Amino acid sequence: MSKSRYQSPKGTRDILVPESNRISLFIRAFEDILSSGGYGQIISPIFEDIGVFRRIGDSTEIVTKEMFDLYDKDPKNPQHLALRPELTASICRAFVEHRPTTPWKVWYQGPQFRYEKPQAGRYRQFLQVGAEVLGTPDPHADIEIIALASRFFESLGLTKIELMLNSLGDSDSRELYNAALIKYLDANKKELSHQSQETMTKNPLRVLDSKREEDEEIIRNAPIITDFLNDENKEHFQIVQDGLELLGITYQLAPRLVRGLDYYTKTTFEFVAPSLDSAQNAVGGGGRYDGLVEALGGPATEGIGFAIGIDRTLLAYEAENISHAPFQDLDVFIVDTTGGNEALILSDELRRQGIAVDRGFDQRSMKAQMKAADRSGAQFAIIIGTDELAENQVTLRDLRGDGTQSILDRQLLSTTLLNLLQEAKE
Ligand code: HAM
Repeated sequence: MSKSRYQSPKGTRDILVPESNRISLFIRAFEDILSSGGYGQIISPIFEDIGVFRRIGDSTEIVTKEMFDLYDKDPKNPQHLALRPELTASICRAFVEHRPTTPWKVWYQGPQFRYEKPQAGRYRQFLQVGAEVLGTPDPHADIEIIALASRFFESLGLTKIELMLNSLGDSDSRELYNAALIKYLDANKKELSHQSQETMTKNPLRVLDSKREEDEEIIRNAPIITDFLNDENKEHFQIVQDGLELLGITYQLAPRLVRGLDYYTKTTFEFVAPSLDSAQNAVGGGGRYDGLVEALGGPATEGIGFAIGIDRTLLAYEAENISHAPFQDLDVFIVDTTGGNEALILSDELRRQGIAVDRGFDQRSMKAQMKAADRSGAQFAIIIGTDELAENQVTLRDLRGDGTQSILDRQLLSTTLLNLLQEAKE
């Protein structure tokens, strides 16, 4: 095959059938679960003022290295914009702008952009689904959010996803912890990797996220945040754990889970697929971000949410060897050797009845159209030749069963087809 002059940009990909079909199903399944929980969809812009995303945290790689930014064309006062690297900050911006009644429960889906080093499961444009609840400090909202994400993974048939749970406390608890952590890291500085020594000065918590071998032992023995939680934080975390147990949702406490965004407070969690390579095995994550709305200029408003990476979850599917849920197959393929007008009229008529129809183009031979019908995966072929046209009939051939053929009156076609398709489903 000759190499085309243009390819999709580095870290992006074209998603074709059947993967694109799986993604549609995935999003539909997510919408079903979230709507049943009283969440409404939010569709926000793909780009925002870069300031919105800077609130994610000045010391996070997402902000310092990975933002796709651009200026608009206003000659006097060009606005500095960025393609969204995630949606939580955008949703808090939308909350401040519209001031909906609380609790505000929303779900979303769409592409995110991060200038990362591309590898399997890590892209520069990737898809997420997610949900947020704004305006309640109730730990039951944390439980509901985690339960919805867990139930979604279950509904996909994924059984090996592990839920890692932690609490990062509020700013008071975090301050105490940070001081203890800095003291500890300082005492062990020489043993730390060069990168972690650098991270340490900017954001000591993020050292805990290092996957470098040299840092492993020091991280394992570091003080843990849960020992520094104040009574209110401790109680909140206990209620979340009790609630998950009440719902039969298993989790592992992960006191060193810090996540890559700076806005988290209290509950944080990650869904991990152990079947994937460890550097990219987080298929979803989230937590509380009680100060973010305020940081964006709104009133003090609590928030909790999660996002699931669609691309990675599909990789986990493959790794678990689960057969994908079937996408809606074609019901009928129309073979018309009389010039194509019959195929045109009939496909329109049947599609309006909810029957999935494809047809041959280019007035190809009967043999070529039958080959296309076989390849299409449709349940039935409808064949219209000159004889059928003259008699106002069609030939119906079962493509999946034993290939039986019958002649049908054109008037009876859609009712007969609907009955046959119903029978085939049962
Ligand atoms: P996040 O952990 O940065 O959280 O991303 C969530 C998920 O998106 C990850 O677990 C991963 O599956 C997927 N993901 C992230 N980066 C990439 C990439 N470069 N390529 C492929 N997949 C990727 C957030 O985005 C937060 N907004 C989640 C949240 C919502 N927290 C509170 N509410």
